[in-house]
Amino acid sequence: MSKHSNILEMRNISKRFPGGVVANNDVTIEVRQGEVHCLLGENGAGKSVLMSILYGLHHASDGEIFLRGEKVKIASPKEARNLRIGMVHQHFMLVPTLTVAQNVILGQYPAGTVLNMIPEVSQKLVELGRRFKLPVDPGALVMDLTVGEQQRVEIIKALYHGADLLIFDEPTAVLTPKEIAGFLDFVRHLRDEGITSIFITHKLDEVIAVADRITVLRDARKIGTVLAAETDPSELARMMVGRDVLMKLGDVRHDVGEVVVKINGLSANNSRGLEALSDVSFDVRAGEIVGIAGVSGNGQSELCLALTGLLESTSGSIQIDGEEIARLLPRGVAEKGVAHVPEDRHKLGVILPFSISENMVIHQFRKEPFSKMGRLLKKNISEYSRALTTEYRVRMRDTEQPIGDLSGGNQQKVVVARELARNPRFAVINQLTRGVDIGAIEFLLKKILEARNKGTAILLVSTELEELFAVCDRILVMSGGRIAGEFDGGRENLEEIGMLMATDVAS
Ligand SMILES: Nc1ncnc2c1ncn2[C@@H]1O[C@H](COP(=O)(O)OP(=O)(O)O)[C@@H](O)[C@H]1O
Ligand SMILES: [Mg+2]
Repeated sequence: MSKHSNILEMRNISKRFPGGVVANNDVTIEVRQGEVHCLLGENGAGKSVLMSILYGLHHASDGEIFLRGEKVKIASPKEARNLRIGMVHQHFMLVPTLTVAQNVILGQYPAGTVLNMIPEVSQKLVELGRRFKLPVDPGALVMDLTVGEQQRVEIIKALYHGADLLIFDEPTAVLTPKEIAGFLDFVRHLRDEGITSIFITHKLDEVIAVADRITVLRDARKIGTVLAAETDPSELARMMVGRDVLMKLGDVRHDVGEVVVKINGLSANNSRGLEALSDVSFDVRAGEIVGIAGVSGNGQSELCLALTGLLESTSGSIQIDGEEIARLLPRGVAEKGVAHVPEDRHKLGVILPFSISENMVIHQFRKEPFSKMGRLLKKNISEYSRALTTEYRVRMRDTEQPIGDLSGGNQQKVVVARELARNPRFAVINQLTRGVDIGAIEFLLKKILEARNKGTAILLVSTELEELFAVCDRILVMSGGRIAGEFDGGRENLEEIGMLMATDVAS
């Protein structure tokens, strides 16, 4: 074997599913003894399948696995566990009506001996909990535990059975931000205790926080393995999506047209009745993208809500093509050609239990070709929805499944598709890329540019400066409910914009 001490080598692994999906294509990875190895890649890259092969859940079509220097065949999870491999799945495999201790020994020993073992098992769990900083209550019923605690039970179960190579499949997806911080600490602690971890994720910040080495998969292939200490988020992102991320997408010189939106002296209160937007004035032209930068909570939300009729302004005017819309209700505003991609996707953007198709025509289902004489024309709705989801590369089973089944990024694609398909005069877009995968971020930004090229006036509100630099013609900084500065869209203004944004935090 190689000069490094590899606990695991998976060599030339390929996995073809019936029907022709190639989930892994000649993937080779080496995992060093005692390291935290991150497996990074976009959704569908082949991470879970590769690790399911290691855990005996899938069988490779080709390739070999070497564990602790010896070639192994892993036909089932049971064989994987016997080889001291543990896997913590995204969806836990615990029995809710049993206690922690009962779950740990479930299916491991002959029935009849199990009850007698509980005290001994419980004591060992408490000891393990202390050693691994993973306290569990052996007598607690699993159904009484939080998701984070259930995850702990899965981990301690693997450790109880002697695993020293642990696979975590997107472990932080189910955790709260506070739990995530604790979990990352715990993974570092596992390393101190000599346990090797393979950590699947698509989140760059987590990778940077815990990894020793990182293997990136893309489209079923291995792109490379890098040392965490020698890489940075932008290199990793490039490896994941295969091109530069958020390059200046929008610096193609283009002409802007006439003034479409004229906002003058606009003020509005927040939900607590305090002034959140103070005397804001600016214009947006046809074919222009104006960015609003700022730390969240500086009036951006109220601005977007006021512009789309969802919040009543206290003074000022909003004109679209010279027509006053400040007093109109949301539907009236929409009819003037104003589109809205809201910050709060779940409250304002989509109706989760409704299908993708239904969400796609939410503004227009009463009109032809989607209904006729009060009857919905489902075929036309599905066709329309299929065309848009294809254009936007929405990852889904079919257009009639609930939109709530989709990942955040794919839900956002549906919202953006719906809003831009109407060829709006003015698009108000707030936090376009929040919770969206890197590959989809660039895709969505390109769609925004397409709308710009068709002459839509666009207001793009974001806390992510990189996103604004990528596409904006001008950037306004909001602070304390006011426009604190105006810049052209170039990255060279980064420092000054950052300072203006930061000044506000202090005040
Ligand atoms: N049991 C299966 N049958 C057919 N295709 C599958 C199966 N499991 C996964 N795939 C496909 O294999 C590819 C890789 O999936 P996966 O490893 O789950 O990706 P990820 O990197 O998001 O974990 C995807 O295209 C997925 O649809
Ligand atoms: Mg996966």
